[in-house]
Amino acid sequence: MAPHEPPARPELTVVAGSLESGPERVGRRPDEGPEDLPVAVVLFLSGPNLSLLGQRQPEIYGRDTLADHIATATAAAAEHGMAVEHVQSDYEGALVEAVHEARGRAVAIVVNPGALTHYSWSLHDALAAFDGPVVELHLSQPRRREAWRHQSVVTPVATGVIAGFGGEGYRLAAEAVAALLRPGRHARSDR
Ligand code: DQA
Repeated sequence: MAPHEPPARPELTVVAGSLESGPERVGRRPDEGPEDLPVAVVLFLSGPNLSLLGQRQPEIYGRDTLADHIATATAAAAEHGMAVEHVQSDYEGALVEAVHEARGRAVAIVVNPGALTHYSWSLHDALAAFDGPVVELHLSQPRRREAWRHQSVVTPVATGVIAGFGGEGYRLAAEAVAALLRPGRHARSDR
């Protein structure tokens, strides 16, 4: 394996750029046939308190709800032939289990761990055991906030981090996954 290639995942078939012109594709769009082409699933994970988006500190996180953000990500992912699955939990163990269940099934994980970002070594370890790209996503820019938010224990196992772009980050995360899965990409991470 070349040093910057993603690990081979024999259990997952990723179909890229073969269906039509336009944006490169990593699979079949969920709304189109034929059925024998797989839909590449991207798991979006949302940690504690993110279910309160829209009401929670709107001056920091904005007025859009989590459902709005996931709809944005779903539309962007569909443009690249990917389907989005979403799990939100306030419980660390539920998120760890969701990562386990994504192994061998999802092509990538986008995770906004909420405050777990800053201390959840179990989420770190679960993500380390996931073979595909991991995008760490934050609405705000934690490094411009309180000192305790400056450390992320997720970053060491993330392919990259998107932070500080508000809801736009959800679209950017879907685009980042599509770019990371494109064959022959110029990887900037050894993940
Ligand atoms: C957050 C940043 C975290 O520090 C915080 O605990 C959150 C949201 C963000 O999206 O900006 O819950 O992950």
